[in-house]
Amino acid sequence: MSIALVILAAGKGTRMESDLPKVLHPIAQVPMLLHAMRAGAALDPQEVVIVAGHGAEQVARVAQDESETARIVMQTEQLGTAHAVDQAREALAGFSGDVVVLYGDTPFVQPETLAHMVAARAKHDLVILGFHAAEPGRYGRLVTEGDQVQRIVEFKDATDEERQINLCNSGLVACDAGLLFELIAEIDNDNAAGEYYLTDIVAHARKRGLSATAVTCDESETLGVNSRAELAAADGVFQARARADLLALGVTLMAPETVYLAQDTVIGRDTVIEPNVVFGPGVTVESGVTIRAFSHLEGCHVSRGAVIGPYARLRPGAELAEGARIGNFVEIKNAVIDAGAKVNHLSYVGDASVGARANIGAGTITCNYDGVMKHRTTIGADAFIGSNTMLVAPVSVGDHAMTASGSVITRNVEDDAMAISRSKQENKPDRARKLFEILRAKKARRDKER
Ligand code: UD1
Ligand code: CA
Repeated sequence: MSIALVILAAGKGTRMESDLPKVLHPIAQVPMLLHAMRAGAALDPQEVVIVAGHGAEQVARVAQDESETARIVMQTEQLGTAHAVDQAREALAGFSGDVVVLYGDTPFVQPETLAHMVAARAKHDLVILGFHAAEPGRYGRLVTEGDQVQRIVEFKDATDEERQINLCNSGLVACDAGLLFELIAEIDNDNAAGEYYLTDIVAHARKRGLSATAVTCDESETLGVNSRAELAAADGVFQARARADLLALGVTLMAPETVYLAQDTVIGRDTVIEPNVVFGPGVTVESGVTIRAFSHLEGCHVSRGAVIGPYARLRPGAELAEGARIGNFVEIKNAVIDAGAKVNHLSYVGDASVGARANIGAGTITCNYDGVMKHRTTIGADAFIGSNTMLVAPVSVGDHAMTASGSVITRNVEDDAMAISRSKQENKPDRARKLFEILRAKKARRDKER
């Protein structure tokens, strides 16, 4: 069965008080819309149509960055959820199969739940995703009889008796494409909100003697985001779930509630993560790694057995081979640190490659930026870079080579060579003692005058 996703993302999100369209606000550092797209991607859809309105250009850019084949259709006026889905009619004209409608501001729906919905389509014409709400509040209510949903009534239009129902509408629907657009064409806006309600397709389907059923999921999956407070709460829910998943996979989190994860963080078993570690997007950490407290990682890959931190920063393009060591107050950006190499203290290594087992002394800096362009530094295997070496890129240091501490290296250093580039030391006998005497006498005079 072919699947088309229609993702509703045209709403303004007034209560976010933001210039950014609501669906682009991030949860776990990834826009909400992409959470929905990624859940839907598990159905291997043939078509993905995003219905955009407010901030459509930005929404389109984010959606197409994620999936080149995603199509954007415009809903210039937000006249209701049925009207929104109707905007996908033309884009799906040549499509035959099932449409699954998702909401861009409902990021937590699980791929398995979507699979249940599609599976239930085998026996029913229309499948609605419902949930039992602890506090049904303003959600639409599912009016059921046996395994059939007879209709969905919006809170605003519901009688007191209907408001007692706690089986609520998530908004997600699965239906044959042809039938869906036929049913939508029959919908009017004669209701309390004056909107075209997608939910009305249920009553129309039942009137035709078609079968409509509800698949239910946990309420946490249908969590919607309408305000910054709800955004923060949703991020909290995501973090709790992601931490629990990592613990179950065999990752040690010493203080789980202090580790902040991104939606796509991947961590291998027997890795140990100390308190207060932050993962930005695009991080993969293999097994048996130790990440010590207060480290910050994004866009990087850490191989087995590496030790990072405390207080380390791995920026995009940091690629650490097995057993690499990155110590405190070290920043690595767009650099390969080969197996067993060590950068243990107070260093910046950017646009560089560091050979296997090389040792980078404290305070070493790759001077990669000349104010206009970036340049690369290459350090060979088993090289020893003395403390406080400035490597003025483009520059290379050969295998088994050394730099003397405090050197400013501007020319390439060949294999096995040692480079010294600093002013020569001169010792002046007795000079320190004399200088101390002069200074102490000066201080004594000044103290007396006061
Ligand atoms: C909708 C459902 C309600 C359900 C609730 C779950 C309808 C009529 N009601 O209500 O039964 O319990 O969701 O959260 O469907 N959107 C557009 N264009 C529009 C209108 C909406 O793109 O013209 C998008 C919004 O951006 C949002 C989603 O559709 O992502 C839901 O719209 P919203 O107005 O929040 O619907 P609710 O009133 O919450
Ligand atoms: Ca809503």
